[in-house]
Amino acid sequence: MSESNNFGTSQINQFNTAGELTHLLTLEGLPKEQLLHILDTAKQFVSVTDPAREVKKVPLLRGKNVFNLFFENSTRTRTTFEIAAKRLSADVINLDISTSSTAKGESLLDTIDNLVAMQADIFVVRHGVSRAPIEIAQHVPSHVHVVNAGDGSHQHPTQGLLDMYTMRHFKKDFTSLKVAIVGDIVHSRVAKSNICALRTLGCTDIRAIGPESLLPSDLDMLGVKVFHSMEEGLRGVDVVMTLRIQKERMEVGQVPEGAAFFKQYGLTSSRLALAQPDAIVMHPGPMNRGVEIDSVVADGPQSVILNQVTFGIAVRMAVMSIVAGN
Ligand code: CP
Repeated sequence: MSESNNFGTSQINQFNTAGELTHLLTLEGLPKEQLLHILDTAKQFVSVTDPAREVKKVPLLRGKNVFNLFFENSTRTRTTFEIAAKRLSADVINLDISTSSTAKGESLLDTIDNLVAMQADIFVVRHGVSRAPIEIAQHVPSHVHVVNAGDGSHQHPTQGLLDMYTMRHFKKDFTSLKVAIVGDIVHSRVAKSNICALRTLGCTDIRAIGPESLLPSDLDMLGVKVFHSMEEGLRGVDVVMTLRIQKERMEVGQVPEGAAFFKQYGLTSSRLALAQPDAIVMHPGPMNRGVEIDSVVADGPQSVILNQVTFGIAVRMAVMSIVAGN
């Protein structure tokens, strides 16, 4: 099996001296009560995002500056963080990294210092380097909060939380849930955050399905069951989560690509039929149709992929309002 799995981050401190969550950097080690508090808070914010509501705003972050710093591309995460911050009445600044002075050689922490001098209150950070948001959190003054929006192949905590929100919404009880995560798990920060959260919430049947080269080496130590066959791994599950192959984080030729991957690990209607009849299909996006998932499934009645995106707004509102102390 392949590279380090990036679990084992329990030394990361995301709490202040009063024991309050002041940053959100990882779901590993996040206590169950805190995790449930975020999900419960998000549930309250769903009503704020109701299309029927005339004023979709609450004043919890009025006067605060939220800086979106996306050093890697994003559609869902960056946009839903912006919507969430605006619904909390914050002022949002989206730094365009491609036209910023990063290109002139300014270091990450010098950039951060300058944005703190512009009165940043919350940094939402996506970075290709694992742990970059942790480095920022250790650097900023105590009144500034950092939310990890995905770092390398390490963690994507708000994606993990919105995935838990989605499972709880459609399935309710984590302790009896059977969850299959399919595809490129070793490079997936989403899979790692999901596995941490599912374990914390009491899920005892977590399955990883994929070729050996795409599965971390110590999944069994985490209680995750490993399958190399879709036909075996999908049998009787309640949730199927498919993942994009993260070509940008691997060597060319490391895995079967395109049609070859689809043949072995693509989620088709006939494979989905092996799961529970009411199983839900999830994908964090972006999807590669015809590689990890068939369009018929992605757009089918069991797909909750777009619900995940919508729930992401309320979950990110919850996270930002909690870390900022409201
Ligand atoms: N799920 C996710 O992180 O998608 P984006 O890369 O579009 O933000």
